[in-house]
Amino acid sequence: MSVGIDDISFYTSNYFLDLKSLADVHRIDKEKFYQGIGQEKMGIVAADEDVVTMAANAALPVLEGVDPETISTLLFATETGIDQSKAGGVFVHGLLGLPSRCRVVELKQACYSATAAIQMACALVAREPEKKVLVLASDIARYDLNSSGEATQGCGAVAILISANPRLVEIQPHSGHYTEDVMDFWRPNYRSTALVDGKYSTKIYLKALKQAWLHYQEITSTEFESLDYLCYHLPFTRMAEKAQTQMARINKCDRDAEALKAQVEPSLHYNRLIGNSYTASMYVGLVSLLENAGTDLAGKQIGFFSYGSGCVAEFFTGRVVEGYQRYLHRERHQHLLAERTELSYAQYLELYNFQHPTDGGEYTFPEQTTGRFRLGGMNQHKRLYCQR
Ligand code: CAA
Repeated sequence: MSVGIDDISFYTSNYFLDLKSLADVHRIDKEKFYQGIGQEKMGIVAADEDVVTMAANAALPVLEGVDPETISTLLFATETGIDQSKAGGVFVHGLLGLPSRCRVVELKQACYSATAAIQMACALVAREPEKKVLVLASDIARYDLNSSGEATQGCGAVAILISANPRLVEIQPHSGHYTEDVMDFWRPNYRSTALVDGKYSTKIYLKALKQAWLHYQEITSTEFESLDYLCYHLPFTRMAEKAQTQMARINKCDRDAEALKAQVEPSLHYNRLIGNSYTASMYVGLVSLLENAGTDLAGKQIGFFSYGSGCVAEFFTGRVVEGYQRYLHRERHQHLLAERTELSYAQYLELYNFQHPTDGGEYTFPEQTTGRFRLGGMNQHKRLYCQR
């Protein structure tokens, strides 16, 4: 019996800022963003959305036709938690009408925790193969205005259904890990924006890649040459190029630059338009690969490198299943991205500066999102979600 990804879908806000607008305001060449970090646009959340609404919206297509009683567990991965106590996934559980016998928990380790959730989900399904586990990864990447990280903001959520005999990608059982206590990116409880030592974070990312890969190789004897495609964690898409160069160097791979690029390029398409979505980022990359490879991927081996600052990293692999194309949500994703509204810099600032109130009063938020689920308001420190 194989275990892995039976269905996958992403969601992002219907608002974006083109990085050209940011470059114009900062009086720099837009190519620094378009080429230098490999980002064109960044998703910006509306006042009436958060990680819960994005995750619930991402899950809708994945749950179509699925008997909710078969979902034993919902794992909610996020860096952008909305409550110090209650798991964001419990709100999603309510919005989606999942059965009360479905357990829910939230996981945190920067951008890495969705991968921990997937590994746990695979283990749960291996124990109880008739059940499925819903993994939700949802994040809003926010840095200070005028900081080096500002152009690498973004937002998005991914819903992944883990099952036995999956229809999309079989996840292979071994993985290589790396953990080191470092301060490359962090967000104390009292801050709504992340702190980052940008250049250092990219160095630690590459170090963690090397160590997780070496661990994976030690366990499985896998050769880099046997991997057809690579999905790297994508804080910005240029990072994948740096990661791929690093892997080629470590493995003394003599493939030319074009061949190395072709192994990652299809996974970058959506992230370029959405920006960083932390826990969801690498899995948005997987959707992009499956939907934009332009060739049949059945039987292809994918190497995954998941990285969460702080830091924890994991390298694992998956094999694409025959006939996977029938179960993709390509049109829905492309429509979602095509229908977004571009923000002016002033409108971006307005949304950026919008703060959910903290005084316990009764508030109604403007209807801005076009998603099914929205955050309608707050009262007595409680978030009030609703459907459009
Ligand atoms: N045309 C083309 N390229 C240009 C250019 C132009 N006009 N101007 C500059 N560039 C190039 C630079 O040469 C540079 O390329 P190299 O990386 O090949 O040297 C690239 O654009 C970026 O330029 P800078 O190095 O000057 O950029 P910066 O100092 O403003 O910031 C950054 C880069 C540190 C990554 C910053 O975006 C940042 O802090 N990002 C947030 C942190 C981050 O994402 N870290 C990634 C690892 S941590 C992680 O993965 C977890 C996570 O999700 C946060």
